[in-house]
Amino acid sequence: MTHRPATPPISRRTLLLAGGAGLAATALHWGGAVRAEPAMRKYALKPMPAMANIVGAEHPDTAIWGYNGIAPGPELRLRQNEILEVAVENGIDQPTTLHWHGIRLPNAMDGVPGVTQDAIAPGGRFTYRFAVPDAGTYWYHPHLGASEQIGRGLYGPLIVEEPEPIRVDRELVWLLDDWRLGRDAQILDGFDDLHDKTHGGRIGNTLTLNGKLTESVPVRAGERLRLRLINVANGRLFSLDFQGHNPQIIALDGHPVTPHAPQGGRLTLGPGMRADIVLDLQGKPGERFEVIDRFYPQFVYRFVTLAYSDDAPLRDSPLDAPILLAANNLPVPDLADAQQESLLFGGGMMSQMASARLDGRTVDMREMLRHGIAWTMNGEAHAADASHHHPTLFKVKQGRTCRLKMTNDTAWYHPIHLHGHVFRVISRNGQPVKDDAFLDSVLLAPRETAEIAFVADNPGRWMLHCHVLEHQSAGMMGLIEVG
Ligand code: C2O
Ligand code: CU
Repeated sequence: MTHRPATPPISRRTLLLAGGAGLAATALHWGGAVRAEPAMRKYALKPMPAMANIVGAEHPDTAIWGYNGIAPGPELRLRQNEILEVAVENGIDQPTTLHWHGIRLPNAMDGVPGVTQDAIAPGGRFTYRFAVPDAGTYWYHPHLGASEQIGRGLYGPLIVEEPEPIRVDRELVWLLDDWRLGRDAQILDGFDDLHDKTHGGRIGNTLTLNGKLTESVPVRAGERLRLRLINVANGRLFSLDFQGHNPQIIALDGHPVTPHAPQGGRLTLGPGMRADIVLDLQGKPGERFEVIDRFYPQFVYRFVTLAYSDDAPLRDSPLDAPILLAANNLPVPDLADAQQESLLFGGGMMSQMASARLDGRTVDMREMLRHGIAWTMNGEAHAADASHHHPTLFKVKQGRTCRLKMTNDTAWYHPIHLHGHVFRVISRNGQPVKDDAFLDSVLLAPRETAEIAFVADNPGRWMLHCHVLEHQSAGMMGLIEVG
């Protein structure tokens, strides 16, 4: 029998990497480590074509693209400050990359083709390796041809555990998606079509929880759940109403917040956004409660049902344990000494926009659409996804706080996502926002203005874009430069 150590031995590679990543470079004592080296978690991900049953056994399987052949892809789970290593082999017939949505990582690992790396060609390989500084709920997805690649199923959860998690009975990760399927249960083509680009993105007709149309989720009376919700849809917003329950939001976009009930009793998530909630199951054995999605008033539907088992309640009153998570160590914006920037989003259907600057020329909306562009930033239109020559919106000196005022001069919702950083929302429509959330995405309602502030502490060129994937490819994407 071979001797298997309880913990994996520290490899030379881990040591080198730890030094390179600027992690605690304290002396290591090989006999009995005084200070534990951050562990490295290794995974392999291969985006590839596969078959999956999405709509149920009475329907045919669906041809999808999935990481390691499944959608969602495998759950990547590690502890705060550990190192994630993911070896990627591209098994689809398009170039791809992987982006680690919400993780504050070194620029070279951010997975943006033409900016932080070359795209991974079909059959090609790339290894990502970085430390995860913040606990929370994140996800991974391609950053190239995203409408089609994410739309066909390429996405997965990335969970970073707190050193001391809160006490719950069970934790569930829910990836919320919609698929556009034909009657044969196959994915309909037409990714990035002009209608979707100029309206609310590619909205699907089949709603799934973790890649399956799901009738119900079994629960037990009295138990406390932690739900990690991730909106991985191309364009759909969700606004979940947990009927008969009192969810408490404990984290947004991965980062802890003062626990609170969702506004108006509905938890709203735009594409890319996450929320962690604590749910105490206060119903009785055998009861059923619907989780209703109310985002689109013309299309209110039952997303899933919480189905209580007949088991006796686990406890009579809710678990008496704190639900406040320990804060991540995040840089706090210095509003008194900040660089001011502003961004005006225009375009789309039902806007008054008559003309814009496209690569230096003044063009009308029709001409923009001929180039696949539907949106402008500060009056400029850019053929972003095709060329990867994203415009540099502005530069910030490393360490400086940036206040960015974003105005949505369109008739559509836009979840605006910033890479490599976290920000606070400091005002909406001129009214101060007084919460303690650190976010990587802010949802702009039609005609809404929001001001965000962040410390530009992570050097490199970082994407700022709408996470409605068909808006992103139609011009709602640019770069900011920190350095
Ligand atoms: Cu999840 Cu640039 O995005
Ligand atoms: Cu948008």
